[in-house]
Amino acid sequence: MSELMTAPSARPEWQALQAHAVAMRSTHLRDLFAADPARGERLTAEAAGLYLDYSKQRITDETLTLLLALAEATGLREQIAAMFSGAKINNTEQRAVLHVALRAARDAVIEVDGHNVVPEVYAVLDRMAAFVDQVRSGVWRGHTGQPIRNVVNIGIGGSDLGPAMAYEALRQYSARELTLRFVSNVDATDFVEAVHDLEASETLFIVASKTFTTMETMANAHSARQWLISRLGDETAVARHFVALSTNAQAVSEFGIDPANMFGFWDWVGGRYSMTSAIGLSTMLALGSGSYHAMLSGFRAMDEHFRTAPFAQNLPVLMGMLGVWYTSFLGAETQAVLPYDQYLRRFPAYLQQLTMESTGKQVRRDGAAVDYETGAIYWGEPGTNGQHSFYQLIHQGTKLIPCDFIGFCHSLNPLGEHHNLLMANMFAQAEALAFGKSAEAVAASGTAEWLVPHRTFPGNRPSSTILADRLTPAVLGALVALYEHLVFTQSVIWGVNAFDQWGVELGKVLAAQIVPELASSGEPALSHDSSTNALIRRYRAGRG
Ligand code: F6P
Repeated sequence: MSELMTAPSARPEWQALQAHAVAMRSTHLRDLFAADPARGERLTAEAAGLYLDYSKQRITDETLTLLLALAEATGLREQIAAMFSGAKINNTEQRAVLHVALRAARDAVIEVDGHNVVPEVYAVLDRMAAFVDQVRSGVWRGHTGQPIRNVVNIGIGGSDLGPAMAYEALRQYSARELTLRFVSNVDATDFVEAVHDLEASETLFIVASKTFTTMETMANAHSARQWLISRLGDETAVARHFVALSTNAQAVSEFGIDPANMFGFWDWVGGRYSMTSAIGLSTMLALGSGSYHAMLSGFRAMDEHFRTAPFAQNLPVLMGMLGVWYTSFLGAETQAVLPYDQYLRRFPAYLQQLTMESTGKQVRRDGAAVDYETGAIYWGEPGTNGQHSFYQLIHQGTKLIPCDFIGFCHSLNPLGEHHNLLMANMFAQAEALAFGKSAEAVAASGTAEWLVPHRTFPGNRPSSTILADRLTPAVLGALVALYEHLVFTQSVIWGVNAFDQWGVELGKVLAAQIVPELASSGEPALSHDSSTNALIRRYRAGRG
């Protein structure tokens, strides 16, 4: 049963923001900065190694006061406490939400149904570390006695995007002698290309699936099994070349993986919040357990900050509320994330699942339809590539697109002037977006009159800048936790459940129905709509 809620839009704080938004639509960042010379230093906050400058957001002190009043009135403080206490806040699945327990201190006590889960978390972490040491030191050997040189993670969604992103992000800290690959798509090309140059005798497959029933992962895992057995000529080879990461021990053992080679986690870890669970095994294999624990310490620092810092200095709360402001009050539909670091090239893709599977909801926790906009569309590319692609639309298009710029003081690959060139571009883009170039300034520089409108930049395009010293495992952990908690903040304000994903089910059910229709030797009786029926017939005819 769902609890009955107050509609967020019925709150006086929400209505005050609606009225305030009308005035703010015509307020320009140029004027806000002109009126307050200290704005660029004042509207900042810092935690867990991340410096946040949100002064280039279209807000005033009043906006902030109203947004934080909405957060208080909605009970965000109590909801944060509820999450950290192990309450079953995932109401549609009756589950606790405790990804924060995955990186809690070893002596912390976090209870689910009166049972402290932290010792279990560390039991798995310690088993992972022991396994990782064996593989990296060559003690763990493949079926033919070869050490493991290749690790292939087979998983999708939360069982792929976090580990794939973290591997890319922290490559500098990884064991370069290990080759890591990630296979997610059921398109065979993904698997075939991932293994085409690998020696089976040196390859370890990690089958990562919370449920161990996901169609894509199971298809890839079965193909990997066949690939291995056909090359090593022995079914028993599976024991030394497959490990599983799952909550479903029975399905793992039915697949043929020894439960001794399974690293477990729990139903209180959502797929998209699972990169610090056993799902992180590939990350730990790449980094070693020391750097992996350093990454966890970054998560933990941000978790603690989120749990304890006053809202006015709380990075996830501030960024979450800014997202609510743009999405529900100023009409923005998307949020760009623009990391000025090549190692973070998969970060926007990772954030897409984290944010959009969490807040892409049209009903509240109590089942009532929302009457406001929820979850923004997240997207982005690393700088400076995006500048030569889609930034034109952000600068001069008709859409309002808030941007998060992410950059570092130090490059992990210092080379000549590259880093200053990179960062100069990041600072310049945020400046150009905010302040633009007025028609008067364009005309004053001698531009022909007819060209002036084309060369005018309206400005008033909002952004935040996150600046850190350098990309370390701990900083990556803090960054990911920042976005995890930002999403939680928004879900509380919008009154939606950030931890279910019923919207992905229908497509799965229909696909399962269509699979035999594509494979059947006789003409199948089709009962879809006329478009789907015709497409299936054409596909079957095309395949002869
Ligand atoms: O597509 C939905 C989803 O359930 C995601 O939420 C999840 O991360 C992904 O599928 C993979 O699920 P599993 O880890 O159970 O294979």
